[in-house]
Amino acid sequence: MLAIIGGTGLTQLDNLNITKRLIVRTPYGEPSQPLIFGEIAGREVIFLARHGNGHTIPPHEVNYRANISALHLQGVTEIAAIATVGGIHPDLAAGVIAIPHQIIDYTYGRKNTFHDGITQPVKHIDFTDPYCPNLRAKWQQAALAAGESVINHGTYAATQGPRLETAAEINRLERDGATMVGMTGMPEAALARELGISYATICPVANYAAGRGDSLHGIKYEEVIANLNQTMVRVRNIIAQLVKQNGFKKTVND
Ligand code: HPA
Repeated sequence: MLAIIGGTGLTQLDNLNITKRLIVRTPYGEPSQPLIFGEIAGREVIFLARHGNGHTIPPHEVNYRANISALHLQGVTEIAAIATVGGIHPDLAAGVIAIPHQIIDYTYGRKNTFHDGITQPVKHIDFTDPYCPNLRAKWQQAALAAGESVINHGTYAATQGPRLETAAEINRLERDGATMVGMTGMPEAALARELGISYATICPVANYAAGRGDSLHGIKYEEVIANLNQTMVRVRNIIAQLVKQNGFKKTVND
């Protein structure tokens, strides 16, 4: 079963034919909202808005463990995530869509494992390639089918937020090898890996990161997000193709 986790600018899927809303409780608490079950082109998918229905949960307060656990409890095997970013690399201007292949985690104080030695025994997952290559390929095929060109690589720097970065911090992230920056990519990706769920992210670029391009003297975040609509129309088309190609197909006996 495929699930979509929507981020900033994508709190619902309007082309989703909703069949059920399910409140799920997990050992880690409640997810950001009830899980939305629905269909696109006859294929089933589960949708979850990471920041909650009215976008009320900031990145550092998201209960990532409850979100991933709730999806796992519903039999989800693949999570296709959407995470809005700021572009560090010059190619990543507002409106570009990227599928990162690497992550650097700068977050802190987030509950970032199921294997905390209390509820589950300590375990060290392999995270060399943090995103599932198969699911990344599926995102790429979906973009192709939607007629959208995407940048098929990139290193996602996960920052703590909720504030945006300083120009010097962005310079440091670039020196570290990051090409884009967002606040929600971790620990989501690692938690999915811990439960054996395939996970890959598509990243619409909302703005140049602090001190870069037209963000040289600052970022008006609210304006930037308000201007994200056009990019999100394209992201929704890609998601629709992804679900058409990979959503769960009910058999007549189901
Ligand atoms: N920094 C961090 N997260 C973001 C940004 C940014 O510039 N833009 C969108 N999400």
